[in-house]
Amino acid sequence: MPSVCFVCLGNICRSPTAEGVFRDLVACEGLADAIEIDSAGTANFHTGELPDRRSIAAARRRGITLDSRARPFDAADFVHFDHILAMDRANLEELQARAPDAEARAKVRLFRSFDPSAPPEAEVPDPYYGGPDGFDRVLDMCERACAGLLRHLRAQHGL
Ligand code: 4NP
Repeated sequence: MPSVCFVCLGNICRSPTAEGVFRDLVACEGLADAIEIDSAGTANFHTGELPDRRSIAAARRRGITLDSRARPFDAADFVHFDHILAMDRANLEELQARAPDAEARAKVRLFRSFDPSAPPEAEVPDPYYGGPDGFDRVLDMCERACAGLLRHLRAQHGL
């Protein structure tokens, strides 16, 4: 089964939002049992926490429930997941630096690279220290990139 792990810094804002948006999309397409979906953070300072209440509220307004618990990305994740999707370039560089071999490195890419309307190297900016608009913009970006990601998985894995 194809598997995807979304990765940001804290695993309480961006990657849980991407996870929730993608779960919702995949379920709507009848593929909930066909794709494994998870998220993690490169840092461990929010381990065990629910997503940020601002992320939860913004997602709820679009009918999406965020209920993951934060966890740090670890070495086993490089083996387990097929697609490891970084929210920003700092996350990407951190994951690339930690990747144990070329096979693991090849699994890592920027999440927004799946959005054909996004510029090259586009990031999902960290909304943590900004205003409420930032959380809506994260959702907009996640919706577009998730649509492209699903198209990619359908083509690559014949779903
Ligand atoms: P995230 O956002 O990486 O999208 O989960 C952040 C969450 C927490 C912190 C930074 C970014 N923090 O510094 O605690």
